[in-house]
Amino acid sequence: MSEELHARLRQRGRASVDFLANMGFGMSDMRNSVEEEIKRIVPDPDALPDDLDQRDARMQQSLGASTAYRASQAVGEWMATHHGLTAKHAFEEVRDEIEPVLKKFEEGGSTVEASPDMEAPAYWDGVDFHRTAGGWEEHEYQGYIHADIVHTRLVAKSFPGGIWSQRLMVAGLAPKDHYDKIIDLGCSTGHFTRALQETYPDAEITGVDLSLKTIQQAQRLGNANGWSWKLYQRPAEDTGFEAESFDLAGSYILLHEIPAHTIKQLFKEAFRLLKPGGDMIMSDVTRYSDLDKLAVWRADAGAKYGGEPHWRESASLDLAEIAREAGFVDVTAQSYPPFNYPHVVQGRKPA
Ligand SMILES: C[S@@+](CC[C@H](N)C(=O)[O-])C[C@H]1O[C@@H](n2cnc3c(N)ncnc32)[C@H](O)[C@@H]1O
Repeated sequence: MSEELHARLRQRGRASVDFLANMGFGMSDMRNSVEEEIKRIVPDPDALPDDLDQRDARMQQSLGASTAYRASQAVGEWMATHHGLTAKHAFEEVRDEIEPVLKKFEEGGSTVEASPDMEAPAYWDGVDFHRTAGGWEEHEYQGYIHADIVHTRLVAKSFPGGIWSQRLMVAGLAPKDHYDKIIDLGCSTGHFTRALQETYPDAEITGVDLSLKTIQQAQRLGNANGWSWKLYQRPAEDTGFEAESFDLAGSYILLHEIPAHTIKQLFKEAFRLLKPGGDMIMSDVTRYSDLDKLAVWRADAGAKYGGEPHWRESASLDLAEIAREAGFVDVTAQSYPPFNYPHVVQGRKPA
Protein backbone atom coordinates (compact mmCIF):
# COMPACT_ATOMS: atom_id res chain seq x y z
CA MET A 1 0.00 0.00 0.00
CA SER A 2 1.44 3.39 -0.94
CA GLU A 3 1.85 5.67 2.12
CA GLU A 4 -0.50 8.27 0.64
CA LEU A 5 -3.25 5.63 0.32
CA HIS A 6 -2.82 4.50 3.92
CA ALA A 7 -5.48 6.33 5.98
CA ARG A 8 -4.53 7.98 9.27
CA LEU A 9 -7.37 6.63 11.38
CA ARG A 10 -8.83 8.72 14.21
CA GLN A 11 -8.34 7.53 17.73
CA ARG A 12 -11.71 5.79 18.12
CA GLY A 13 -11.46 3.90 14.83
CA ARG A 14 -7.80 3.05 15.38
CA ALA A 15 -8.47 1.77 18.90
CA SER A 16 -11.39 -0.40 17.73
CA VAL A 17 -9.34 -1.87 14.88
CA ASP A 18 -6.31 -2.44 17.15
CA PHE A 19 -8.58 -4.07 19.72
CA LEU A 20 -9.79 -6.58 17.11
CA ALA A 21 -6.26 -7.13 15.79
CA ASN A 22 -4.90 -7.89 19.26
CA MET A 23 -7.84 -9.93 20.44
CA GLY A 24 -6.46 -13.00 18.68
CA PHE A 25 -3.15 -12.70 20.58
CA GLY A 26 -4.98 -12.08 23.85
CA MET A 27 -6.95 -15.29 23.40
CA SER A 28 -3.92 -17.56 23.17
CA ASP A 29 -4.40 -19.01 26.71
CA MET A 30 -8.01 -19.79 25.94
CA ARG A 31 -7.04 -21.40 22.65
CA ASN A 32 -4.42 -23.53 24.39
CA SER A 33 -7.11 -24.74 26.81
CA VAL A 34 -9.31 -25.70 23.85
CA GLU A 35 -6.41 -27.61 22.27
CA GLU A 36 -5.82 -29.50 25.54
CA GLU A 37 -9.50 -30.39 25.64
CA ILE A 38 -9.43 -31.56 22.02
CA LYS A 39 -6.41 -33.79 22.70
CA ARG A 40 -8.31 -35.32 25.60
CA ILE A 41 -11.52 -36.04 23.68
CA VAL A 42 -9.84 -37.04 20.38
CA PRO A 43 -6.89 -39.25 21.31
CA ASP A 44 -6.95 -40.78 17.82
CA PRO A 45 -7.96 -38.43 14.95
CA ASP A 46 -8.20 -41.41 12.56
CA ALA A 47 -11.18 -42.69 14.56
CA LEU A 48 -13.25 -39.59 13.71
CA PRO A 49 -16.13 -40.08 11.21
CA ASP A 50 -15.20 -39.85 7.51
CA ASP A 51 -18.26 -37.79 6.70
CA LEU A 52 -17.39 -34.16 7.36
CA ASP A 53 -20.83 -33.14 8.66
CA GLN A 54 -20.91 -36.10 11.03
CA ARG A 55 -17.37 -35.26 12.13
CA ASP A 56 -18.39 -31.70 12.91
CA ALA A 57 -21.51 -32.86 14.79
CA ARG A 58 -19.35 -35.24 16.87
CA MET A 59 -16.82 -32.51 17.67
CA GLN A 60 -19.49 -29.94 18.54
CA GLN A 61 -21.21 -32.43 20.81
CA SER A 62 -17.99 -33.43 22.55
CA LEU A 63 -16.74 -29.87 22.95
CA GLY A 64 -20.11 -28.42 23.98
CA ALA A 65 -19.31 -28.93 27.66
CA SER A 66 -16.01 -27.01 27.41
CA THR A 67 -16.28 -23.44 28.70
CA ALA A 68 -13.10 -22.46 26.86
CA TYR A 69 -14.50 -23.81 23.56
CA ARG A 70 -17.85 -22.05 23.98
CA ALA A 71 -16.09 -18.80 24.88
CA SER A 72 -13.70 -19.03 21.91
CA GLN A 73 -16.65 -19.76 19.58
CA ALA A 74 -18.54 -16.74 20.92
CA VAL A 75 -15.50 -14.47 20.46
CA GLY A 76 -14.92 -15.86 16.94
CA GLU A 77 -18.54 -15.20 16.04
CA TRP A 78 -18.33 -11.68 17.42
CA MET A 79 -15.18 -10.98 15.38
CA ALA A 80 -16.79 -12.40 12.23
CA THR A 81 -19.84 -10.18 12.54
CA HIS A 82 -17.97 -7.08 13.70
CA HIS A 83 -14.74 -6.81 11.73
CA GLY A 84 -16.44 -5.39 8.63
CA LEU A 85 -18.56 -2.96 10.64
CA THR A 86 -15.59 -1.79 12.72
CA ALA A 87 -13.55 -1.23 9.56
CA LYS A 88 -16.38 0.76 7.96
CA HIS A 89 -16.83 2.97 11.02
CA ALA A 90 -13.10 3.64 11.17
CA PHE A 91 -13.18 4.60 7.48
CA GLU A 92 -16.20 6.92 7.86
CA GLU A 93 -14.36 8.89 10.56
CA VAL A 94 -11.60 9.81 8.09
CA ARG A 95 -13.60 9.73 4.87
CA ASP A 96 -13.34 13.50 4.27
CA GLU A 97 -9.53 13.32 4.36
CA ILE A 98 -8.96 10.16 2.41
CA GLU A 99 -11.65 10.49 -0.28
CA PRO A 100 -9.73 13.10 -2.35
CA VAL A 101 -6.70 10.77 -2.35
CA LEU A 102 -8.87 7.85 -3.48
CA LYS A 103 -10.37 9.97 -6.27
CA LYS A 104 -6.91 11.18 -7.32
CA PHE A 105 -5.71 7.61 -7.87
CA GLU A 106 -8.75 6.74 -9.96
CA GLU A 107 -6.90 8.67 -12.71
CA GLY A 108 -3.81 7.31 -14.41
CA GLY A 109 -2.50 4.43 -16.48
CA SER A 110 -4.43 1.79 -14.52
CA THR A 111 -7.99 1.54 -15.79
CA VAL A 112 -11.20 -0.22 -14.82
CA GLU A 113 -13.84 -1.54 -17.19
CA ALA A 114 -17.09 -2.10 -15.30
CA SER A 115 -19.77 -4.50 -16.54
CA PRO A 116 -23.00 -2.98 -15.24
CA ASP A 117 -25.12 -5.52 -17.13
CA MET A 118 -23.16 -8.55 -15.95
CA GLU A 119 -25.35 -11.17 -14.35
CA ALA A 120 -23.43 -12.24 -11.25
CA PRO A 121 -23.09 -16.03 -10.97
CA ALA A 122 -25.42 -17.65 -8.43
CA TYR A 123 -22.46 -19.06 -6.41
CA TRP A 124 -21.22 -15.50 -5.81
CA ASP A 125 -24.31 -13.30 -5.77
CA GLY A 126 -25.61 -12.36 -2.34
CA VAL A 127 -22.92 -14.28 -0.41
CA ASP A 128 -21.15 -12.25 2.28
CA PHE A 129 -17.73 -13.87 1.74
CA HIS A 130 -15.59 -13.81 4.90
CA ARG A 131 -18.81 -12.63 6.63
CA THR A 132 -17.91 -9.11 5.43
CA ALA A 133 -20.91 -7.04 6.53
CA GLY A 134 -22.82 -6.05 3.38
CA GLY A 135 -20.56 -8.13 1.10
CA TRP A 136 -18.00 -6.83 -1.40
CA GLU A 137 -20.24 -4.35 -3.16
CA GLU A 138 -22.44 -2.60 -0.60
CA HIS A 139 -20.13 0.26 0.39
CA GLU A 140 -18.84 2.71 -2.22
CA TYR A 141 -15.28 2.23 -0.92
CA GLN A 142 -15.50 -1.42 0.13
CA GLY A 143 -12.37 -2.33 -1.83
CA TYR A 144 -10.37 0.34 -0.02
CA ILE A 145 -11.83 -0.56 3.38
CA HIS A 146 -10.99 -4.19 2.79
CA ALA A 147 -7.46 -3.59 1.55
CA ASP A 148 -6.33 -0.81 3.89
CA ILE A 149 -8.18 -1.65 7.07
CA VAL A 150 -9.17 -5.33 7.07
CA HIS A 151 -6.17 -6.74 5.21
CA THR A 152 -3.40 -4.38 6.23
CA ARG A 153 -4.36 -3.71 9.85
CA LEU A 154 -6.12 -6.92 10.82
CA VAL A 155 -5.28 -9.94 8.66
CA ALA A 156 -1.63 -9.08 7.94
CA LYS A 157 -0.86 -8.72 11.67
CA SER A 158 -1.60 -12.32 12.52
CA PHE A 159 -1.44 -14.30 9.29
CA PRO A 160 1.02 -17.18 9.52
CA GLY A 161 3.75 -16.74 6.91
CA GLY A 162 2.81 -13.13 6.10
CA ILE A 163 0.18 -12.29 3.50
CA TRP A 164 2.49 -10.14 1.35
CA SER A 165 5.59 -12.34 1.29
CA GLN A 166 3.52 -15.41 0.37
CA ARG A 167 2.19 -13.65 -2.71
CA LEU A 168 5.71 -12.63 -3.76
CA MET A 169 6.92 -16.18 -3.22
CA VAL A 170 4.16 -17.56 -5.47
CA ALA A 171 4.76 -14.95 -8.18
CA GLY A 172 8.46 -15.87 -8.16
CA LEU A 173 7.71 -19.56 -8.73
CA ALA A 174 6.68 -19.05 -12.36
CA PRO A 175 9.44 -20.67 -14.42
CA LYS A 176 10.55 -17.82 -16.71
CA ASP A 177 12.43 -14.65 -15.79
CA HIS A 178 10.33 -12.53 -18.08
CA TYR A 179 6.69 -12.41 -19.22
CA ASP A 180 5.25 -9.88 -21.65
CA LYS A 181 1.58 -10.31 -20.85
CA ILE A 182 0.17 -11.61 -17.57
CA ILE A 183 -3.40 -12.17 -16.46
CA ASP A 184 -4.29 -12.24 -12.74
CA LEU A 185 -7.55 -14.16 -12.31
CA GLY A 186 -9.63 -13.02 -9.31
CA CYS A 187 -7.26 -10.10 -8.75
CA SER A 188 -9.47 -8.42 -6.12
CA THR A 189 -7.78 -5.33 -4.62
CA GLY A 190 -4.51 -6.10 -6.39
CA HIS A 191 -2.28 -7.73 -3.77
CA PHE A 192 -1.13 -10.58 -6.04
CA THR A 193 -1.20 -8.26 -9.05
CA ARG A 194 1.33 -6.15 -7.21
CA ALA A 195 3.50 -9.18 -6.43
CA LEU A 196 3.40 -10.14 -10.13
CA GLN A 197 4.30 -6.60 -11.21
CA GLU A 198 7.18 -6.38 -8.73
CA THR A 199 8.48 -9.77 -9.88
CA TYR A 200 8.07 -9.02 -13.62
CA PRO A 201 8.46 -5.21 -13.73
CA ASP A 202 8.15 -4.94 -17.53
CA ALA A 203 5.05 -7.11 -17.85
CA GLU A 204 1.74 -5.73 -19.08
CA ILE A 205 -0.81 -6.88 -16.53
CA THR A 206 -4.53 -7.54 -16.89
CA GLY A 207 -6.71 -8.33 -13.88
CA VAL A 208 -10.25 -9.71 -13.72
CA ASP A 209 -12.63 -9.95 -10.80
CA LEU A 210 -16.41 -10.15 -10.38
CA SER A 211 -16.31 -7.39 -7.78
CA LEU A 212 -16.21 -3.85 -9.15
CA LYS A 213 -15.41 -2.29 -5.77
CA THR A 214 -12.31 -4.44 -5.33
CA ILE A 215 -10.87 -3.70 -8.78
CA GLN A 216 -11.47 0.01 -8.21
CA GLN A 217 -9.08 -0.34 -5.28
CA ALA A 218 -6.63 -2.31 -7.44
CA GLN A 219 -6.77 0.63 -9.85
CA ARG A 220 -5.83 3.07 -7.06
CA LEU A 221 -2.98 0.82 -5.98
CA GLY A 222 -1.75 0.57 -9.56
CA ASN A 223 -1.93 4.32 -10.14
CA ALA A 224 -0.32 5.18 -6.79
CA ASN A 225 2.68 3.13 -7.92
CA GLY A 226 2.75 4.31 -11.54
CA TRP A 227 1.65 0.96 -12.98
CA SER A 228 -0.72 0.54 -15.92
CA TRP A 229 -3.00 -2.33 -15.06
CA LYS A 230 -6.04 -3.12 -17.21
CA LEU A 231 -8.75 -4.23 -14.82
CA TYR A 232 -12.04 -5.79 -15.88
CA GLN A 233 -15.18 -6.73 -13.99
CA ARG A 234 -15.61 -10.16 -15.54
CA PRO A 235 -15.83 -13.80 -14.46
CA ALA A 236 -12.40 -15.43 -14.49
CA GLU A 237 -13.86 -18.63 -15.96
CA ASP A 238 -15.29 -16.78 -18.96
CA THR A 239 -13.21 -13.66 -19.55
CA GLY A 240 -14.17 -12.96 -23.15
CA PHE A 241 -10.56 -12.13 -24.07
CA GLU A 242 -9.07 -13.43 -27.28
CA ALA A 243 -7.51 -16.89 -27.18
CA GLU A 244 -3.71 -17.11 -26.92
CA SER A 245 -3.24 -13.56 -25.69
CA PHE A 246 -1.21 -14.09 -22.47
CA ASP A 247 2.18 -15.55 -21.53
CA LEU A 248 1.36 -16.24 -17.88
CA ALA A 249 -2.04 -16.88 -16.25
CA GLY A 250 -2.15 -16.89 -12.46
CA SER A 251 -4.42 -16.69 -9.46
CA TYR A 252 -3.86 -16.34 -5.75
CA ILE A 253 -6.47 -17.90 -3.41
CA LEU A 254 -9.35 -17.43 -5.82
CA LEU A 255 -10.18 -21.14 -6.15
CA HIS A 256 -11.66 -21.74 -2.69
CA GLU A 257 -14.23 -19.04 -3.42
CA ILE A 258 -15.75 -20.86 -6.38
CA PRO A 259 -17.46 -24.24 -6.73
CA ALA A 260 -15.78 -27.28 -8.30
CA HIS A 261 -17.41 -27.07 -11.74
CA THR A 262 -16.36 -23.40 -12.00
CA ILE A 263 -12.79 -24.29 -11.00
CA LYS A 264 -12.70 -26.75 -13.90
CA GLN A 265 -14.00 -24.04 -16.26
CA LEU A 266 -11.38 -21.65 -14.91
CA PHE A 267 -8.48 -23.99 -15.72
CA LYS A 268 -9.88 -24.47 -19.23
CA GLU A 269 -10.18 -20.72 -19.62
CA ALA A 270 -6.59 -20.21 -18.47
CA PHE A 271 -5.48 -22.80 -21.03
CA ARG A 272 -7.46 -21.04 -23.79
CA LEU A 273 -6.02 -17.64 -22.87
CA LEU A 274 -2.38 -18.75 -22.90
CA LYS A 275 -0.15 -18.61 -25.93
CA PRO A 276 1.43 -21.95 -26.83
CA GLY A 277 4.29 -22.46 -24.38
CA GLY A 278 2.64 -20.14 -21.84
CA ASP A 279 2.69 -20.85 -18.09
CA MET A 280 -0.09 -21.29 -15.56
CA ILE A 281 0.31 -20.81 -11.80
CA MET A 282 -2.69 -21.14 -9.49
CA SER A 283 -2.48 -21.11 -5.73
CA ASP A 284 -5.08 -21.87 -3.13
CA VAL A 285 -5.74 -22.92 0.44
CA THR A 286 -4.39 -26.10 2.07
CA ARG A 287 -5.69 -29.34 0.51
CA TYR A 288 -7.68 -31.53 2.86
CA SER A 289 -5.56 -34.43 1.59
CA ASP A 290 -2.51 -32.76 3.24
CA LEU A 291 -4.18 -32.78 6.68
CA ASP A 292 -5.20 -35.34 9.29
CA LYS A 293 -8.89 -35.70 10.15
CA LEU A 294 -8.72 -33.31 13.07
CA ALA A 295 -6.96 -30.61 11.07
CA VAL A 296 -9.54 -31.04 8.31
CA TRP A 297 -12.29 -30.53 10.88
CA ARG A 298 -10.60 -27.32 12.09
CA ALA A 299 -10.28 -25.97 8.54
CA ASP A 300 -13.78 -27.05 7.57
CA ALA A 301 -15.45 -25.65 10.69
CA GLY A 302 -13.50 -22.39 10.27
CA ALA A 303 -14.69 -22.12 6.68
CA LYS A 304 -18.29 -22.96 7.56
CA TYR A 305 -18.53 -20.25 10.22
CA GLY A 306 -16.22 -17.85 8.38
CA GLY A 307 -18.34 -17.19 5.28
CA GLU A 308 -16.61 -19.59 2.85
CA PRO A 309 -19.42 -21.66 1.30
CA HIS A 310 -17.24 -23.29 -1.41
CA TRP A 311 -14.11 -24.00 0.66
CA ARG A 312 -14.87 -27.66 1.43
CA GLU A 313 -15.63 -28.53 -2.18
CA SER A 314 -12.59 -26.71 -3.43
CA ALA A 315 -10.11 -27.90 -0.77
CA SER A 316 -11.12 -31.50 -1.49
CA LEU A 317 -10.15 -31.29 -5.18
CA ASP A 318 -7.00 -32.62 -6.81
CA LEU A 319 -6.06 -29.46 -8.67
CA ALA A 320 -3.17 -31.10 -10.55
CA GLU A 321 -5.62 -33.58 -12.06
CA ILE A 322 -7.95 -30.75 -13.09
CA ALA A 323 -5.01 -28.91 -14.68
CA ARG A 324 -4.06 -32.01 -16.70
CA GLU A 325 -7.69 -32.49 -17.78
CA ALA A 326 -7.66 -28.90 -19.05
CA GLY A 327 -4.67 -29.76 -21.29
CA PHE A 328 -1.71 -28.52 -19.23
CA VAL A 329 1.53 -30.50 -19.30
CA ASP A 330 4.48 -30.70 -16.88
CA VAL A 331 1.95 -30.20 -14.09
CA THR A 332 3.28 -29.94 -10.54
CA ALA A 333 1.45 -29.38 -7.26
CA GLN A 334 3.19 -28.39 -4.08
CA SER A 335 2.04 -27.39 -0.61
CA TYR A 336 4.35 -25.01 1.24
CA PRO A 337 5.52 -25.45 4.83
CA PRO A 338 4.89 -24.98 7.68
CA PHE A 339 1.09 -25.06 7.12
CA ASN A 340 0.84 -26.57 3.61
CA TYR A 341 -0.34 -23.09 2.61
CA PRO A 342 -0.51 -22.00 -0.07
CA HIS A 343 -0.99 -25.02 -2.30
CA VAL A 344 0.47 -24.14 -5.69
CA VAL A 345 -0.33 -25.83 -9.01
CA GLN A 346 1.73 -25.08 -12.09
CA GLY A 347 1.62 -26.24 -15.68
CA ARG A 348 2.46 -25.29 -19.24
CA LYS A 349 0.43 -25.11 -22.42
CA PRO A 350 2.24 -27.26 -24.98
CA ALA A 351 4.13 -25.20 -27.58
C1 LIG B 1 -9.58 -14.13 -1.76
S1 LIG B 1 -9.89 -12.97 -3.00
C2 LIG B 1 -8.49 -13.04 -4.04
C3 LIG B 1 -7.35 -12.38 -3.51
C4 LIG B 1 -6.40 -11.73 -4.47
N1 LIG B 1 -6.01 -12.57 -5.58
C5 LIG B 1 -5.23 -11.31 -3.64
O1 LIG B 1 -4.10 -11.67 -3.93
O2 LIG B 1 -5.48 -10.64 -2.63
C6 LIG B 1 -11.02 -13.72 -4.07
C7 LIG B 1 -11.52 -12.77 -5.12
O3 LIG B 1 -12.07 -13.55 -6.16
C8 LIG B 1 -13.17 -12.88 -6.69
N2 LIG B 1 -13.98 -13.87 -7.40
C9 LIG B 1 -14.74 -14.86 -6.91
N3 LIG B 1 -15.26 -15.60 -7.91
C10 LIG B 1 -14.75 -15.07 -9.07
C11 LIG B 1 -14.90 -15.38 -10.44
N4 LIG B 1 -15.63 -16.40 -10.84
N5 LIG B 1 -14.28 -14.62 -11.33
C12 LIG B 1 -13.52 -13.57 -10.96
N6 LIG B 1 -13.34 -13.22 -9.68
C13 LIG B 1 -13.95 -13.96 -8.74
C14 LIG B 1 -13.83 -12.26 -5.47
O4 LIG B 1 -14.65 -11.19 -5.89
C15 LIG B 1 -12.61 -11.83 -4.66
O5 LIG B 1 -12.24 -10.52 -4.97
